[in-house]
Amino acid sequence: MPRAPDPREPLIVASFELAAERCEDLTPLVYARLFREQPEMEILFWRDQNHQIRGEMLTRVIQAILDFVGERLYASTLIQSEVVVHEGYDVPPEVFRIFFRTVRDAVCEVCGPDWTGEWDAAWESLLADLDYYVTHPDQATTAALA
Ligand code: HEM
Repeated sequence: MPRAPDPREPLIVASFELAAERCEDLTPLVYARLFREQPEMEILFWRDQNHQIRGEMLTRVIQAILDFVGERLYASTLIQSEVVVHEGYDVPPEVFRIFFRTVRDAVCEVCGPDWTGEWDAAWESLLADLDYYVTHPDQATTAALA
């Protein structure tokens, strides 16, 4: 059965669209903000000398967020798998929550005074839902929710 439309989708999409109009590439903003708040995370990217991985990863994360509020074809299982895969990069699961929040904060910063209360509420609830999959990476236990 197709999923019922997620009322957060138009709000999250609108926030990304406005951010994209105002900022060609969110990558430097997101990672500068992340490393300012969590300096110990920068070392995790030691292999990424030309910042390609940072950009690729952010693109995948934004696509996953859009899928999560849209058709949710893959986002929840992707998040669960990435939590496990990233253990190999020494990325602790709790950093996922920080990263998703940092994406929201960067979008909010770029939107400035045009950021709305509705967008804020949609993002807060989305962040809580994303975090559920970070803290429950075992797909067998979440299969019924998919
Ligand atoms: C759903 C969330 C995430 C997704 C979809 C994702 C996806 C990816 C992908 C696709 C790559 C490989 C990129 C490439 O080689 O071109 C990657 C690498 C990496 N990710 Fe993530 N990632 C996520 C969350 C995070 C978080 C929260 C952190 C911590 C800040 C993180 C840290 C890293 C690091 C350090 C690498 C580089 C590994 C290396 O040295 O090769 N990732 N990620």
